[in-house]
Amino acid sequence: SDVPVITIDGPTASGKGTLASRVAAALGYHYLDSGALYRSAALAALHAHADLADEDAVAAVAAQLPLRFDPPRILLAGEDITERIRHEEIGLAASRISAYPAVRRALHALQLSFRRAPGLVADGRDMGTVVFPDAALKVFLTAPAATRAERRHKQLISQGFSANIDHLRQDLESRDERDRNRATAPLKPAEDARSLDNSALSIEASVQQVLAWWQARR
Ligand code: C5P
Repeated sequence: SDVPVITIDGPTASGKGTLASRVAAALGYHYLDSGALYRSAALAALHAHADLADEDAVAAVAAQLPLRFDPPRILLAGEDITERIRHEEIGLAASRISAYPAVRRALHALQLSFRRAPGLVADGRDMGTVVFPDAALKVFLTAPAATRAERRHKQLISQGFSANIDHLRQDLESRDERDRNRATAPLKPAEDARSLDNSALSIEASVQQVLAWWQARR
């Protein structure tokens, strides 16, 4: 495909979603939140009472996801699950099922279908390494776990959820550890990725950095 792709990968709560959607808006590109697909698959598996330890059962659910995208809303069988999939328990379930190769295969074509003119910004764990290896710009976003836990805490509180910062940090560290150490599509920078530690950067400065890299490429 000659439709350009920018990938933004990184650990939990590194700010990928905010950065990727702002860059997409600035360029007038489509946006793929691949984590939302894994989260939706996890929720669908829970709804179907599938055993999360059963790779084939979960992959069967992931292959038949009745998802509809109406940005920024996501609907599962007509039900708006946009907020529901943000819960920590769904993030943890997503992290468990995303380690299954059969689940990753089931979601592969759906992710590729987001690549439409004039361009795509995709965020996740393996966007630059597996799903869009030919991306024109690959960014690997990082920030220390303590910073990420603080951000996630603020975000949850502002959305009216209650949250304990120490639990959040433990959850995100165990999720990252599983994402990094799995055999299939582990979380790691692509060889040709540029690293961006955004812990001391405003969102706007991070957006400007990515746009500057993007302009320098063309
Ligand atoms: O990015 P987000 O936290 O929404 O992703 C939820 C989980 O889905 C991650 O912890 C990770 O295990 C999984 N995921 C993945 N590959 C992606 C995106 C998300 O394995 N491209």
